[in-house]
Amino acid sequence: MKTVIKNIAELIQTEKTPRKWVAGEDMKNISTIKDAFVEVENGSIISFGSMADWAGIEDWNNTEVIDAEGGMVFPTYCDSHTHLVFAASREDEFVDRINGLTYTEIAQRGGGILNSVKKLQDTSQDDLYNDALARLNELVQMGTGAIEIKSGYGLTLDAELKILRVIKRLKENTDVTIKATFLGAHAIPLGYKNNKEGYMDLVINEMLPKIAKENLADYVDIFCEEGYFTVADTIRLLEAANKFGISGKTHVNQFNAIGGVKASVDLGALSVDHLEEMADEDYEALKGSNCMPTLLPGCSFFLGIPYSPAKQMMEKGLPVALASDYNPGSSPSGNMNFIASLGCTQLKMTPEEVINSTTINTAYAMGIGKELGSICVGKKANLFITKSIPSYAYLPYSFGKNVIEKVMINGKLQ
Ligand code: NIG
Ligand code: FE
Repeated sequence: MKTVIKNIAELIQTEKTPRKWVAGEDMKNISTIKDAFVEVENGSIISFGSMADWAGIEDWNNTEVIDAEGGMVFPTYCDSHTHLVFAASREDEFVDRINGLTYTEIAQRGGGILNSVKKLQDTSQDDLYNDALARLNELVQMGTGAIEIKSGYGLTLDAELKILRVIKRLKENTDVTIKATFLGAHAIPLGYKNNKEGYMDLVINEMLPKIAKENLADYVDIFCEEGYFTVADTIRLLEAANKFGISGKTHVNQFNAIGGVKASVDLGALSVDHLEEMADEDYEALKGSNCMPTLLPGCSFFLGIPYSPAKQMMEKGLPVALASDYNPGSSPSGNMNFIASLGCTQLKMTPEEVINSTTINTAYAMGIGKELGSICVGKKANLFITKSIPSYAYLPYSFGKNVIEKVMINGKLQ
């Protein structure tokens, strides 16, 4: 069965051949085709072009026609950083922050990540799965077609396995492209308060080998930050993970620049994420590397911390990716349309830069650049059709408004 989407006012982010990523000045450009069509077969894009060049329907019995009715077609968002599997919301801490406490102060009182850990440990795998699936379905309707999901609210072998098995079930039961990241080193659990080394031993010697053996993680992550894990811990974890063929995607420079960027880059991390605080040496480490700087403006918006210097990064020739960081503490939304708006309004990125940073560049940061991230022959047919909108800039412009009409994942309308 072939599907053709016709009468597309503008087809956004087309590519002749998949690029590795888009960096620096090049981020200012996207390729589009006005008055276009796309053809899809067996879940993949098989051709696209302008309506004037469309050959028409050869086999009426085996072709489904979707009329975009003047809407635009975009590749779905790739959200390369989320903590989608969690047990409960944390609006009590949100109120505490309104009343003057900081994220760090709340964490020091036993709230924050450890609050989510307590709740997750008491929640069954089935309940976690059902909640995560409902969230994922909501995100798909908002245009997300690929997502990375981290563990990190378990912090015991069993609870970390429980989260990673939920992610595995999501992979098996949905058409969304999903990558799993083991974030056992997310916070130091209460039982190891004065024995961080003991906890690192548990993560490295017990959790990691078991998770690698069961093939439950595509990537490994650590929260490299004052009060959490050090640069030395980061090096130790990434070295151990590399031995299993697992690369890093690390939480670095959220509150303090302590050297986590260079450590991650040196050990072949696929991405370094957060980067609200950047030192000269961090830019130096990223230059010429294969590591994607990934910014999480939803977290800055929600916690009221500084936004990452996206413009400086692009001026230095670096690529930039934007992801949601969807989690109950620092960014309780996975709405990538809103992330795109924050990219424009707060990071001062242009709509073209934002489109590149949420599609091709986040696909790279998930290791799926050959499959997703653009409208390209051979890539998966994960795309969305908008309502009739005046220009593609209208998408990040009209924040808080849903302009997405239909979503196709793996060639199927959702
Ligand atoms: O990416 N910074 C570390 N981890 C998450 C927050 C987790 C939480 O507060 O529950 C983040 O912002
Ligand atoms: Fe995060």
